[in-house]
Amino acid sequence: MDRLDKILTSLGYGSRKEVQHLIKNGHVAVCGAVSKDAKQKVNHADVTIDGEPLDPQTLIIVLYKPMNYVCSHNDAGRLVYSLLPPRWQKRNPKISTIGRLDGDTTGVILLTDDGALNHALTSPKKHVAKLYEVTLASPIRGDEADIFSSGTLMLNGDDKPCRGAKLTIIDSYNATVELTEGRYHQVKRMFAAVGNKVVKLHRKQFANIGIGDLQEGQYKIICKEDILF
Ligand code: URA
Repeated sequence: MDRLDKILTSLGYGSRKEVQHLIKNGHVAVCGAVSKDAKQKVNHADVTIDGEPLDPQTLIIVLYKPMNYVCSHNDAGRLVYSLLPPRWQKRNPKISTIGRLDGDTTGVILLTDDGALNHALTSPKKHVAKLYEVTLASPIRGDEADIFSSGTLMLNGDDKPCRGAKLTIIDSYNATVELTEGRYHQVKRMFAAVGNKVVKLHRKQFANIGIGDLQEGQYKIICKEDILF
C-alpha cells in the first residue's frame, strides 16, 4: 500500500501538483469509487484513472531499435526513450536500457525500470547470450570462427581475452555471431581484430527474446517470466 498521489507520480501521471489536481477533479477511483484523498493508502491494482487501470508497476519492454537512436538518457541525439509513450519517460524509477547498442546498430533492445532485473541480465557473471547479424566490408577469410570460439582473442585495450563466441557464416560478407558477454563495441572490435570491418550490425536476439513481428521503432511489454536466462 502506498499514497495515491505517490503511486501516480512515480508512474509518470504528472508532478505531485498535477496528480493532486487529477485526484481533486474526480478522475481517480479506488475499487471503483471516486477518491479525492491524495493521501489515501491504496493498492496499485485497485486504482483507475478515468476508468482505465494504471500502467504496470514494473515495465519490461522489448523495442526494435532503429538506426540512429542512442541508448543514453542524456545524449543530444535521438534517444531510444523518445520511442516510448511520454508518460513512461516520466516514471521514477526511470526506465533504462538493459545494456546498450551503438547508435548505428539496429534490433532487439530490452528496457526496464526493474534495477535488479537489469543488473541480473547485464552482470558479467551471467553470460546472457546475444545474437547479432553482421555484414562485413571484406570477405570472410575462413579462420574467424575458430579464432572467435577459441577464448583467446584479445581486443585492443582489454586485459582479458573474449569468451568463446559462435560465428556462423551465411555467405562471404554476412554472418551471425553469438556472444555471452557485452563489451564496448564488442562485435565491431572482434571483426577489427581479424582485419575486417562491420558495415551493418543488427541484434536478432537478447537471451531468448527476438523482434517477433515488431516493426522498426515499435515496442511491446513482456514479463519477467518471458526471459529465459
Ligand atoms: N557490438 C558492437 O560492436 N556494437 C553493438 O551495438 C553491439 C555489440
